[in-house]
Amino acid sequence: MNDAPANGHAYLDFNSPLSDTKAYDLINSLAPLRDATVVDYGCGWAELLLRAVEHEAGAIGLGVDSDDYAIDRGNANIEARGLGERVRLDRADVTTWETPPADVVISIGASHAWGGTRRTLEAMHARLKPGGRLLLGDGFWESEPNARTLEVFAPDEFGTLDELVDLAMACGYRLLNLATATLDEWDSFESRWCAGRERWLLENPDHPEAAEARKIVDDHRDLWLKGYRGSMGFAYLTLARR
Ligand SMILES: C[S@@+](CC[C@H](N)C(=O)[O-])C[C@H]1O[C@@H](n2cnc3c(N)ncnc32)[C@H](O)[C@@H]1O
Repeated sequence: MNDAPANGHAYLDFNSPLSDTKAYDLINSLAPLRDATVVDYGCGWAELLLRAVEHEAGAIGLGVDSDDYAIDRGNANIEARGLGERVRLDRADVTTWETPPADVVISIGASHAWGGTRRTLEAMHARLKPGGRLLLGDGFWESEPNARTLEVFAPDEFGTLDELVDLAMACGYRLLNLATATLDEWDSFESRWCAGRERWLLENPDHPEAAEARKIVDDHRDLWLKGYRGSMGFAYLTLARR
């Protein structure tokens, strides 16, 4: 009998609401990537970093994340895709890991690691060469969060989209590109997250861990569909460091 999944990641390509098409649009927004060093802070299994490096033959990728599952999955993909000479993933805390300032840095869904968006923008500024590009993926409220959402998220967890952009300007960046996750991207992301446990439950309905797995996925679906669906937004800002 297989153990219950430890997370909802098995069916996700990216650990954020992001389609293949938008992923390549975002990579293009980071140009020039030729001979660039791209550092992904909180890379997860680093799918976007791998695609960026595959897209531009001269680019070098470095990723850092503290999650064992993510780093192992990323390393397996690096090997399978023959990228070992150009991409390295380190298992570490992003806040203490050090490397010289880069041409391009990525921080998607990892602002909590730095203590919020402002601190992330400041940390990435210090880790970029002047003129370098940051791809920041961060949350915002598309509309007022409802009561169900506020059981889990603080109202000041996020600002509005224009506040997010203003904050980036105040932290020493200019906006090169703005994209936001569509409802389709969100639904795909949440469905795939739930599918990790739903598919395991289909195969293991009487497993000792089944009730717990069912509760986790039921609670998650409830919070998504009765809570933040349509009100929580996710923005991808491509920012140039001044
Ligand atoms: C929402 S996931 C996003 C992963 C990836 N950026 C993506 O978009 O697929 C956030 C990631 O940040 C990582 N993380 C959070 N705090 C961290 C820390 N202090 N040091 C290293 N990684 C951290 C988590 O392990 C997780 O993989």
